[in-house]
Order: sequence, then structure tokens, then C-alpha cells
Amino acid sequence: MLRVGVLVSGGGTNLQAIIDAIDSGLIPDTQIVTVISNRQKAYALERAKNHGIESQCIRPMDFESREAFTDALIEALQKAKVDLIVMAGYLVVLSESFVKTFPNRIMNIHPSLIPSFCGDGFYGLKVHEAALERGVKVTGATVHFVDEGTDTGPIIFQKAVDVLPDDTPETLQKRVMEEAEWVILPKAIALYAQGKIRVENGKVYVTQ
Ligand code: GRF
Repeated sequence: MLRVGVLVSGGGTNLQAIIDAIDSGLIPDTQIVTVISNRQKAYALERAKNHGIESQCIRPMDFESREAFTDALIEALQKAKVDLIVMAGYLVVLSESFVKTFPNRIMNIHPSLIPSFCGDGFYGLKVHEAALERGVKVTGATVHFVDEGTDTGPIIFQKAVDVLPDDTPETLQKRVMEEAEWVILPKAIALYAQGKIRVENGKVYVTQ
């Protein structure tokens, strides 16, 4: 049984996609053992509670230093004995020591086709505003392993979504979530649970 810890900051629609994929059997032999948010009011915490999943809030502001926050987060995840950590709309930049504690065991979903529109400052609606500003005709989402950089880890899956002439950042975000994020994140977790994902020299190889 794969034990998954999910880190959230917002509405939790990606968390919900994972919950639904486990319930439907799309993701086999997997249990979300904890949901941790950096924001008390994140609706993602409600989604966890509604599904009987243990949840907690660990806020950077409650700690004297970033290191103390990181230690508390690591401790909570190790106490839950997680095998895989999934950043599902999690907006805290994780420190190098955190990433080194869980090498190639942290997945992140980013709402663009990396390496476009990613890195520091590119999150949420800002990503889609930049895509529309640039005038790209195709965007999408990327699920990748997290390394010491921001959105620079080995890419697991990507899914493209057309940009429509009358798109606003909001309509584009909604379509990227529905057609790409909520599809490739559960798929990546399902294949990881089946031991079908491996990383070699920074590249991901998937045995279907
Ligand atoms: C969305 O902008 C999504 O594209 C990104 O994180 C934000 C919140 O997602 N992955 P969620 O609804 O909290 O999963």
C-alpha cells in the first residue's frame, strides 16, 4: 500500500482528483495518510475532513525560522510514514534540506508546459496571464519530481490544452485544471504506486 502525504494551500481540486481516482480504482493500492496545508482556511482541508483523511495545518509564520518550519513538516510526514509526497497546489517553496530528505519522492503539478511559464513567481493565475500575454496557442500542465530548484525537477507527464481566442486567465486556468492537471497527476501517482516510474540521469522512464 503506497502511503501518500498531500501538501495543499488552496481549493484542493487536485487533492479531490486524487481522492476520486483512489476511490474509483484508477490509482491502485494507495492511501492518502495525511493532508497538510500552510493555510488554516484552505478548502482543501475541508475536502480531506469530508473524506475522513487526517489533516493538519503547519504554517511557516508559526516558527522562528524556515529551518524550524521545514523540520516540523518533515517530522509530520515521517510520523505519517509517507512513501510519496504530492504538492497539489502547495505554494510554499520547499527548502533544499526538505527535498534532500525525500529524493525523487516529491511530485508537483504545475499549470504550464515546463519549461515555459514556470520558476519563481509563476503560480496560480499568474501562469495563465503570462501564457495569454505571450500569445501561445497551446499550454497545459506538467507533473514532475521536485528537486532543489523551482519547477526544474524530472518531468513525469505533460498534457497540452489549446488556448482559445476568447480565453481569460480564469477560463484558461479552469480548462487546464479540468483537462490536464486532474488527469496527469492521478495518472502519475497510479504508475508510481505500481512501481512503473524510474528516474535515470534526470530523465523519467515509465513502463506502461
Ligand atoms: C491552481 O492554480 C492549479 O493550477 C495549481 O494550484 C492551484 C490550486 O489548485 N496546481 P488546487 O485547486 O488547490 O488543487
